[in-house]
Amino acid sequence: MSKKLIWKGEIIWEKHNYNCKYTAWGSWKSPSNPYLKYSWEFLEIFSKGSLTHRGRTRETDLTADEFKEWVYARWDIAPEKDMKKWGHPAMFPEELARRVIKLFTFKGDVVLDPFNGVGTTTKVAKELGRKFIGIDISEEYCLKAEQRLSEVGVKRRKEPERIMLKLFD
Ligand SMILES: C[S@@+](CC[C@H](N)C(=O)[O-])C[C@H]1O[C@@H](n2cnc3c(N)ncnc32)[C@H](O)[C@@H]1O
Repeated sequence: MSKKLIWKGEIIWEKHNYNCKYTAWGSWKSPSNPYLKYSWEFLEIFSKGSLTHRGRTRETDLTADEFKEWVYARWDIAPEKDMKKWGHPAMFPEELARRVIKLFTFKGDVVLDPFNGVGTTTKVAKELGRKFIGIDISEEYCLKAEQRLSEVGVKRRKEPERIMLKLFD
């Protein structure tokens, strides 16, 4: 079977963050070159090998209401507010990770986030009974992700694995 990634669709993540204080206007009050501002981002969904995920079909934890709401591909979710606490400037809100994981994976699946930051995806994956792998180029963020994971019952890693991280740096 081909292992190509097949485009499945896209979701608009509407953040409603119109009140952003730090903004550039381009040509202020002039039509010469006004900057357009976007209060949304796109999530691109790809499927490996087949559009159908043939997993443990009985291991779904999606409710009927969640399914009906989330297949409409515009998700209104406020941006993360806790960024100061974790010292990361571009954290995802947990609700975004929660919806993606529940809508596209079965319980027990492996969730991989190659840009894991301070670990939002991995924390939510753990809470939802998925296995997880989180990668980030920043050791500082990896340590914070570990701390967040320890708060939901994941044991901290041993030193040799941290050294591996440094080798990749
Ligand atoms: C948008 S942030 C992800 C934030 C994450 N979703 C969270 O909620 O904490 C992107 C992350 O990608 C990491 N990154 C950038 N280049 C990378 C690379 N080449 N390999 C691995 N991680 C990288 C950055 O350190 C940053 O933490």
